[in-house]
Amino acid sequence: MYDKLIFEISKPGRVGCSLPKSEVKDWNLPEELTRKIALDMPEVTELDVVRHFTRLSQKNYGVDQGFYPLGSCTMKYNPKINDEMAGNPNFVGLHPLQPAETAQGALEIYYQTSKMLSELTGLAEFSFNPFAGAHGEATGLMIMKEYHLQRHDYKRNKVIIPDSAHGTNPASASVCGMETIVVPSTELGTVDIAKLKEVLNDEVAGMMLTNPNTVGIFEKDILEISKLMHANGSLMYYDGANLNALLGVSRPGDMGFDIMHINLHKTFSTPHGGGGPGSGPVGVTKNLVQLLPNPRVVLENNQYRLQTNPLSIGSVSGFYGNFLVVVRAYTYLRSLGKENVGLVGKMAVLNANYIKESLKDYYKLPIKGACKHEVVFDGLVKGDASTLDVAKRLMDYGYHPPTIYFPMLFHQSLMIEPTEMESKETLDDFIDAMIKIAKEAEENPELLHNAPHTTIIRRLDDVKAARTPIVKFKDIT
Ligand SMILES: Cc1ncc(COP(=O)(O)O)c(C=O)c1O
Repeated sequence: MYDKLIFEISKPGRVGCSLPKSEVKDWNLPEELTRKIALDMPEVTELDVVRHFTRLSQKNYGVDQGFYPLGSCTMKYNPKINDEMAGNPNFVGLHPLQPAETAQGALEIYYQTSKMLSELTGLAEFSFNPFAGAHGEATGLMIMKEYHLQRHDYKRNKVIIPDSAHGTNPASASVCGMETIVVPSTELGTVDIAKLKEVLNDEVAGMMLTNPNTVGIFEKDILEISKLMHANGSLMYYDGANLNALLGVSRPGDMGFDIMHINLHKTFSTPHGGGGPGSGPVGVTKNLVQLLPNPRVVLENNQYRLQTNPLSIGSVSGFYGNFLVVVRAYTYLRSLGKENVGLVGKMAVLNANYIKESLKDYYKLPIKGACKHEVVFDGLVKGDASTLDVAKRLMDYGYHPPTIYFPMLFHQSLMIEPTEMESKETLDDFIDAMIKIAKEAEENPELLHNAPHTTIIRRLDDVKAARTPIVKFKDIT
């Protein structure tokens, strides 16, 4: 049984509210603009509408509902105070074209958030213009490219990217017209320095790296890597998607990175866009500040203003990015305070290691030793079930599954990122479910092969859904 559409519960004459008679006089519209067929709107009561949309909202799974350990995504809770601040009518009502003198509060938020991010990352200044992490990557690479061009070093058009990197890294390089050189990882999951040295030459513009990397392991040779790249005349780009693990503990700037992006929707507790507004601010070292996208927010004589730089890579978004997302990140940082921000990385790492140690007898651990903010398993130790089966069965236990089959370094990757927000009780319940599933895989593997059993839609054909999506309503009863 499918839930009825709002049009299907419509009954002629039902209304949700009654409007007063219009005070606007009749307006003679030109004939070609007048409606010829009556508008087909659903006729429903307020209660119909409330129930319909409440029911729909419950079909989704969100962080506000339960544990969401999606690796590489940092699905942390977004405190409601962030939304309350972003909903302030003085922020919501701003127009991007209004004079800077009348928007000093908003410009101050941009300026101060950049200052806080600088303190946390060791880079000089941030631009909030990019709309997402991947957009930040592309912006950062444009800065890298422009740096070499402005030095008349025209040959440098190659970017080194480890094989463990997120797919957006090579995609961003390609979008910027740059070529990718892939370096393999060692069996410890970190960059193979010997192989890195082999690909260095005067065509290399820079290297993109996330640290901890997508296997959840800290690149312990990062200082040596940065030194090698800089000696080669190349720049270091930090993919900040995994910054949560380091927050308040160590800084990309101190590791030798020149350019980075941050996913505000991950580390700084703003909503994951889901196609909606996101924010991927880009930060740079002092010598690259003039290349940041236009415009920059500057403070002069106690007044904030927008400055356009002739050396800049130009504009990468309409106006100045998604302002209300920045308000949320600002609120998050101010409510944590300097004294607590250092706990974020530490607690995120502790939680991931707690899960790793609790599950390592049941799920294969391809890389031993301490992980950072996320742990990657490579399928079950025993039993006849795949990582996909485990993920589907977890839904029956009421959890959003972890990331599966990424990173691609292992055949049965199962990547769990608990974030710092979760309590020991939540982690224990999840661990319990994972152990039960591991036992089911040995005793009754069919239960896993056919999971999920409790969801409205059972197992989807993922490939078919991606290749031939049906995006319109279709009665499947
Ligand atoms: C390591 C890494 N880099 C980059 C990105 C891209 O970020 P966004 O989804 O905001 O574009 C992600 C997203 O999950 C990621 O995990």
